[in-house]
Amino acid sequence: MSQKKLIQGLNEDLAAEWGTVMRYTYQAAHAFGIEGEHLRDILAEEVQDELGHATFLTDVIVDLGGEPTTTPKEFGKPKGLKKMLELDLEMELRDVEHYNEHARIAEELGLTELKVKLEEMAADEAGHAREIRRILKGL
Ligand SMILES: [Fe+2]
Ligand SMILES: [Fe+2]
Repeated sequence: MSQKKLIQGLNEDLAAEWGTVMRYTYQAAHAFGIEGEHLRDILAEEVQDELGHATFLTDVIVDLGGEPTTTPKEFGKPKGLKKMLELDLEMELRDVEHYNEHARIAEELGLTELKVKLEEMAADEAGHAREIRRILKGL
């Protein structure tokens, strides 16, 4: 796997992160009722994690000689808390897979810091997925 391919993969991750920042912000504005109030707090916290991921990926792509995307990935806009969270769970689990896959490529290329950071980001997304599963169980 070449560095060019890795940059391409990281740019897809970055587009997904920008999309998640927007999706959580959009969903927070549509989270109504008492349960919605709680969800707003949780989403506000998770947006900070996703912003941190997007910032890191932007820096790394530049460092590797690439051009970081500023275009978010398109996202669905389902109505109602349950449907929103089901989409979020699916997307978080997809992010876990992508970060693990790209961590393996970084390791192959001898990029140790990137490998470790991508694994940490996979763990962050897995934590988000666990939090969402907990909320979904009560809805
Ligand atoms: Fe993220
Ligand atoms: Fe996440």
